[in-house]
Amino acid sequence: MGAVGRILVTRALPFGALDRLRAEHEVDVWEERLPPPPETLRERAAQADALLTMITERVDGALFDAAPSVRAVANLAVGTDNIDLEAAAERGIPVGNTPGVLTDATADIAFALLLAVARRLSEGEREVREGRWAPWQPGHGLGGDVAGTTLGIVGWGRIGQAVARRGEGFGMEIIHSSRSSGLPLEELLERADFVSLHTPLTPDTRHLIGAGQLRRMKPTAYLINTARGGVLDQVALREALEAGEIAGAGLDVTEPEPLPADDPLLSAPNLLVVPHVGSATVRTRSRMADMAVDNLLAALAGRDMPHPAS
Ligand code: DGY
Repeated sequence: MGAVGRILVTRALPFGALDRLRAEHEVDVWEERLPPPPETLRERAAQADALLTMITERVDGALFDAAPSVRAVANLAVGTDNIDLEAAAERGIPVGNTPGVLTDATADIAFALLLAVARRLSEGEREVREGRWAPWQPGHGLGGDVAGTTLGIVGWGRIGQAVARRGEGFGMEIIHSSRSSGLPLEELLERADFVSLHTPLTPDTRHLIGAGQLRRMKPTAYLINTARGGVLDQVALREALEAGEIAGAGLDVTEPEPLPADDPLLSAPNLLVVPHVGSATVRTRSRMADMAVDNLLAALAGRDMPHPAS
C-alpha cells in the first residue's frame, strides 16, 4: 500500500464504495445536498491529494493552481465537460471517468422520453390529476407513431448505439450521423421522425442544434436530448416549439442545471423535461461510484487509472 492520501469527495455517495477509499486513505466528504460553492471547493481541494468530483464541479487550471497537492481526479460521470482536461494534462494530473456502466440506463431514459413525448404522457397525466379527464373521444390525446418511423441518432458512441438497438426493437428504421460515420447532419435532420442527441459537449458541439437545424426537421418530428444541455440552443428550441416547427421535445439535460422553474423554455408547448436522471438507477450509480474509487486507488498507488478519461 502506498502513502495515505487525503481525498475530497464533493458529495455524499449512497453506496459502500467510499469504504474502500477509507480503508486506505483519509476521506473528506462534502455532505451538503448542494455542491460546494467554488470558493469552498478551492479551500477544501487545497487540503487534498485527490478529488472525486461530480458534473456540478468546475475543475480547471484555477482550481489546480489553488490546490497544488492534487495529483488525481476521478469524475463520477462519463462526461468530462466540467473538467479542463488540457489543464490537467499540462500538470500531469490523471483524470478518470465512468464509461460503459451507464449506457443502458441512459439509453432507457432517452427512449422513455421518446415514447412519452410522442404519446403525450405528461400532458395526459396532468389532465387526470387536475380533474380534466373527459370521457373517451376519438380525437383526444392523439400523438405520433413510433413503429415504422425513422430514428436519427446524432453521435454514434455507446449510448447512441444502445438507443438505436431499442429503436430496432420498436420497429424503427435507424439512421445516424457522427464525425466519422453515417449521414451528414442536415440529411439526418430532414429524414428523421425522432432525433436523439448523443454527442459529448465540446467547443465543436456547443449549439450543434440551433435554429437552422431545427428548421430542417419535419414539423411532425420530435427532438430528444440526454447528452448535455449545451449541445442544443434552448432559445431556438423554445421558438421552434412555439412556432410548430417541430412536434415536441424531451430533455433530460438543460443549460443551466437546475433549470429555474420560471425559465421561458418551460412555457413552450409539447415539452417534457426531467432533471438529469439518465444514469440514475441504483445499480448504475453504484457501479459509477466503484469505478471512480478504482480510479483513485490506482492513481494514488502510482498506477494508471483503469478508466482514464482520455
Ligand atoms: C454522465 O455520466 O456524464 C451523466 O451525464 C451523469 O451520469
